[in-house]
Amino acid sequence: MGDTVHYSDLGLVNTREMFTKAVGGGYAIPAYNFNNLEQLQAIVTACAETSSPVIIQVSKGAREYANATMLRYMAMGAVKMAREMGSQIPVCLHLDHGDSFEICKSCVDNGFSSVMIDGSHLPYDENVALTKRVVEYAHRFDVTVEGELGVLAGIEDDVQAEESTYTKPEEVEDFVKKTGVDSLAISIGTSHGAYKFKLQEGEEVPPLRFDILEECQKRLPGFPIVLHGASSVVQEYVQLINQYGGKMEGAVGVPEEQLRRAAASAVCKINIDSDGRLAVTAKVREYMAAHPGEFDPRKYLGAARKELVELIKHKNEAVLGSAGKA
Ligand code: G3H
Ligand code: 13P
Ligand code: ZN
Repeated sequence: MGDTVHYSDLGLVNTREMFTKAVGGGYAIPAYNFNNLEQLQAIVTACAETSSPVIIQVSKGAREYANATMLRYMAMGAVKMAREMGSQIPVCLHLDHGDSFEICKSCVDNGFSSVMIDGSHLPYDENVALTKRVVEYAHRFDVTVEGELGVLAGIEDDVQAEESTYTKPEEVEDFVKKTGVDSLAISIGTSHGAYKFKLQEGEEVPPLRFDILEECQKRLPGFPIVLHGASSVVQEYVQLINQYGGKMEGAVGVPEEQLRRAAASAVCKINIDSDGRLAVTAKVREYMAAHPGEFDPRKYLGAARKELVELIKHKNEAVLGSAGKA
């Protein structure tokens, strides 16, 4: 991509003000991943209708899938669409799990208002050095940066971690001071994907490590904390998927009460991807089963998009508390 653009020209905002308000207000900003038109339309519709600030985020895989230039214009279109709906919600375009200085730089240069540099798999000093380098570049353009300490289990792009490593609270102050990050993702027991916990028959989902979160909060008063891997893995969708030919046994996520508790704390950004994927898959399968002769993608993707709007409204209103905060 040759031409560079600043995010302010696309109508986007960085996370600074959003996070200050969310930390003070005891709610969290939703960060929804998108890869295609219908997902983005649903996010915009639901957030405009619930008057919620929103972070639309793109993984490295999404950039490869959808094309980076296309994503830039889609984000610009998302802001315009919200405005045409009569909504002034702040919209941030964020890189999810950037794994190199180069990808972060490319996003800063191409209209992203926020980037994550995920050096969580690196030794501490290397994570500090890489994150600091990204912060120095991004801040020149007032792009905000999210770093990560501690490793989440599950798959992130091509990186698979079998076991999670909880964030060490004794490292957080030093990391934030040395790197200058604007927010910090921590590992307190969530994981990526639809299989977050391996439960035996009759076993309940274990509680997140709120003790670690509280310890981090104590050491970084008022500092924005981010929670990844925060899908609830809505069982209604898992059942629909299994009912209509899918096979997703043992899929389980983070209960909503735990997310509500996190949102009321210093956690001011909650990442949700898998729940959206489940909603889309469940509704496409259901639609296809009921209409075997249908071959117009607008029909089955339209059904999926409609469900996604309902899901996102529910998250904003009943889980994150971001509804009405725009
Ligand atoms: O954290 C990972 C996100 O859910 C993005 O997933 O890398 O498959 O696009 P992806
Ligand atoms: P889920 O897989 O729980 O939706 O997590 C998404 C995420 O953390 C994206 O960065
Ligand atoms: Zn993540």
